This record gives sequence, structure tokens and C-alpha cells, in this order.
Amino acid sequence: MSALAAQDFDAWQAGALSRTEAALDRFVPAEAPAGLGAVMRYAVLDGGKRLRPLLVLAANEAVGGQAEAAVRAACAVELIHAYSLVHDDMPCMDNDVLRRGKPTVHVKFGQAAALLGGDALQALAFELLTPGDASVPDSIQALHCRLLARAAGGEGMAGGQAIDLAAVGQQLDEAQLRQMHRLKTGALLQASVMMGAACGPGSAQALAALNDYGWAIGLAFQVIDDILDVTGDAATLGKTAGKDAASGKPTYVSALGMDESLAYARRLHDQAQAALAQSGLANTAALSALAQRVIARNT
Ligand code: IPE
Ligand code: IPE
Ligand code: MG
Ligand code: MG
Ligand code: MG
Repeated sequence: MSALAAQDFDAWQAGALSRTEAALDRFVPAEAPAGLGAVMRYAVLDGGKRLRPLLVLAANEAVGGQAEAAVRAACAVELIHAYSLVHDDMPCMDNDVLRRGKPTVHVKFGQAAALLGGDALQALAFELLTPGDASVPDSIQALHCRLLARAAGGEGMAGGQAIDLAAVGQQLDEAQLRQMHRLKTGALLQASVMMGAACGPGSAQALAALNDYGWAIGLAFQVIDDILDVTGDAATLGKTAGKDAASGKPTYVSALGMDESLAYARRLHDQAQAALAQSGLANTAALSALAQRVIARNT
């Protein structure tokens, strides 16, 4: 694994973020009828850490993949994520009023607009993955659609969200908690890594290692999200803090306590780094730095 100095990672990240923002701005249309375009753009632009796009682009670099496929995959996964946040915040789910430092979509535009805006973002994600010209090879298009559909659907994010709602007021054991977090959050993060990896040639060993890396950071990410809900504040997080306990949601903090949850996230981070070391890939420095960021973050 090559080391990447902090300032080199910052420079890599700044470039990756600016490519992502420019592409999202280009791909998310203002023109959808009856104000739907404005809803979609509000949900996606001007906010968010863009961790999922960064993972796509870092994994693509690790395998030396195709740039156009990677930027489309980066945007597609962010659109699915943004849609999941819009629906997650609605009164029928977490009933949140603040997201990315702004009023949530249903607060700003109403519930019907939030529902439709989320639906439209989901569809747009798959449209981005399937350009009608020859700019992305058909085999990559198909694999990207399959990876994203599985991560977003009943065996992924939507399934995890269903468990999350069914678990309110319940105590889950560690295996149940892990399953919920893996599905509602981990699956899409892991898919980000594998969609980046799908943009280029990767040995079976490299793909298996990246899959392990994605599994570990995906779960670690939601463990830290649970911790930040307790330790963070709205000004830093850009979303209301303290919601999980107030809503009776089982979390890693409620199940294991704060110290043990943090220790678990750190172990997952170490597992992710070990997987990168096993990958046989030379250029995993950005993936390594992103793993560190997942557990060191305060937002
Ligand atoms: C928040 O995700 C929702 C979870 C899956 C925990 P992020 O913390 O990545 O949210 P943004 O994209 O930065 O707003
Ligand atoms: C959300 O989990 C996971 C999604 C699929 C959106 P949370 O409900 O904990 O996310 P936040 O804390 O509202 O961002
Ligand atoms: Mg939720
Ligand atoms: Mg929520
Ligand atoms: Mg949360």
C-alpha cells in the first residue's frame, strides 16, 4: 500500500470533489415539470460529504479504471443516497426537519414533492449508469446497475430501513443490529467501492479484498453515525442530534455503550486497512485515507 501524505490526500480529495460537484450539477436537471427539478436539485446539490462518490473514484483509481464510467457511478450512488435521505427524513420515517444544514425537503416543498423527488432521483441514478452513446462499455453498465440495484433495494438500503422502522422500541442483539446497519447504510458504501472497482480490470484477489474493505467501512460508518447522534451537535452535523434515543431506536451506543462502540468502529477500520494490504493493488492510498476519515470524522 503506498502512503499518501496528508496534503496529497487533501489535493486528491479536492480534485475528486470538484469533479463530482460539476457532474452532479450537470446531470441533475432543473427542467423536470411542476417544480420537481428544483426539488431534486435542492436534495442533491450544496451539501453532504460526498463520501460515496469519493469511494467510487478512489476504488476506480486503485484498479486503473475508466474515468467516464467512474464519474457516472459516483453521481449515481450519490443520487440514491440523497433520495434515501429525503425519504428517511419524512414524517412517516424519522420525522427530521434539518438535513445538510438546511430545512429537509418535505419541510421546504411538502411531503408529496419529497416523495416524488426521491422517486425521480432513484430513476435518474440508473439513467446515468446507462448512457446511450458508447462512452461506457455495456458490460460495465450492466454490472453497475446490478450492484446499485442490489445495494438500494430490499436486500440493501430499503430492507435495512424497513428493519430500522420495525425495531423502534425494541432491543436488538448484536447480530440483528449488525444486519440492520449493514443493510441500511453499509450496503451502499460497499457498493460504492465495488462500482469503482468495476470500472477497470481487477483480479479476483483484488475484488475480494475491496469487497472486504467496503464491508468493514460500511458498517463502521453507521456505528460512528450512531455515536455522533449522541456526541454531536446540530451546528456541526447539519442534522438534529439526539434523535435516536428520543425515537427509541436501537443503536450501537444503546446496545454496547459508547466506549465499546468506538472500539468496535476502530476494529472495523483496522480490518479495512488489512483488506487493502491483501489486495495486491499498488494504488490504495486514497481508499486508506478515506477509511481513516470514516472513523475520525465529527460530521
Ligand atoms: C447520513 O449519511 C445517513 C447515513 C447513512 C448514516 P452521510 O453522513 O454520508 O450524509 P451526507 O451525505 O454527508 O449528508
Ligand atoms: C439512515 O440512517 C440510513 C439511510 C438509509 C438514510 P439514519 O436515520 O441514522 O441517518 P441520519 O442520522 O438521519 O442521517
Ligand atoms: Mg433513519
Ligand atoms: Mg434519520
Ligand atoms: Mg443517524
